[in-house]
Amino acid sequence: MTTPATESHLRRLPKVELHCHVEGAARATTILELAARHGVSLPSVDPDELFAFTDLNQFLSIYDVICASLRTADDFHRIAYEACEDGVAAGVRYREMFFSPGFVIRLGVPVQTVWEGVSAGVRDANHDLDIECRLILDFDKPTGPAHALEMVDVAARLDRDLLLGIGADSVERGIDHRAFAAAFAAAAHEGLHRTIHAGEDGPADNIAAAVHELGCERVDHGFRLLDDPELTAEIVDRRIPLTVCPTSNVVIANVVPDVASHPLAEQRRRGVLATVNSDDPGMMRADLADEYVAVAAAYGYPLEEMEQISLDGIEASWLPDDGKAALRSRFVAEFAALRAEHGLPARR
Ligand code: HPA
Ligand code: ZN
Repeated sequence: MTTPATESHLRRLPKVELHCHVEGAARATTILELAARHGVSLPSVDPDELFAFTDLNQFLSIYDVICASLRTADDFHRIAYEACEDGVAAGVRYREMFFSPGFVIRLGVPVQTVWEGVSAGVRDANHDLDIECRLILDFDKPTGPAHALEMVDVAARLDRDLLLGIGADSVERGIDHRAFAAAFAAAAHEGLHRTIHAGEDGPADNIAAAVHELGCERVDHGFRLLDDPELTAEIVDRRIPLTVCPTSNVVIANVVPDVASHPLAEQRRRGVLATVNSDDPGMMRADLADEYVAVAAAYGYPLEEMEQISLDGIEASWLPDDGKAALRSRFVAEFAALRAEHGLPARR
């Protein structure tokens, strides 16, 4: 027997988030305030209009504007802390959050300033709030392989209690993903975890490059995976996780008209460890709880499947095995308490 998943229950379900960008999680109101403070002009001063985009390129040009408003360590501290606060409100208990220094170092902000602010914001949030957040340094793919190597070099020297690994984002079309092999090899050599945005609005071949030639342990998005059945079988066998962001693929990459048409359900049916994530909750005005509600509604998933999606986030994380086991025990206890509160039978 299965149990229907209600919206209020899903909002409170404990969750893991593995694909969330700190800059894209910034509140419009915060960006407006920081832009005014630093004399940065924005395309709109209406928080409801600031984040308007219809494809990845337009989204990234607004991302650039957001990043132009971030100048000091305090600015980065604020957006990191607020991103954690908003995560807590969505039920996120554990998050591995991206930050992308490439967008601001080209404006003259030192990478050390970015790290000082983001790491302090996350450290304070971990102390004050019911969340454990870790960080992933994303390099900017269009800036090229030398920037990628430089970012790996920076990452290798950061505090490993907070910084888990390296990733890569921004545009995908027209980028030779194999050109980053040396950067990812250097990251592996330094003991950094590795992931990359691939197969978002680009082909499944970029996913193949990520797992075969870049040594990535996860793939961010992986929307086009099912185009390649052999690669799909390999990803299932090796339990390489995808960090899927269904709403983002609708409203940012614009590769599918709605969540119901997204391949997530088919990926999961075929055994892919496909997790659910928000990507850029501030810019999309949709957090991870909204994402869980949208996914349950789109595929008619019962509560049991939504609880499994939450547990899959733990498996897909870069927590050590004992950390995964502890988080799993906590989630299972919270699932039981939430069910009891809603008068539902225990999970089997
Ligand atoms: N794709 C590419 N670049 C990004 C994204 C994304 O999902 N989010 C923030 N920068
Ligand atoms: Zn992303």
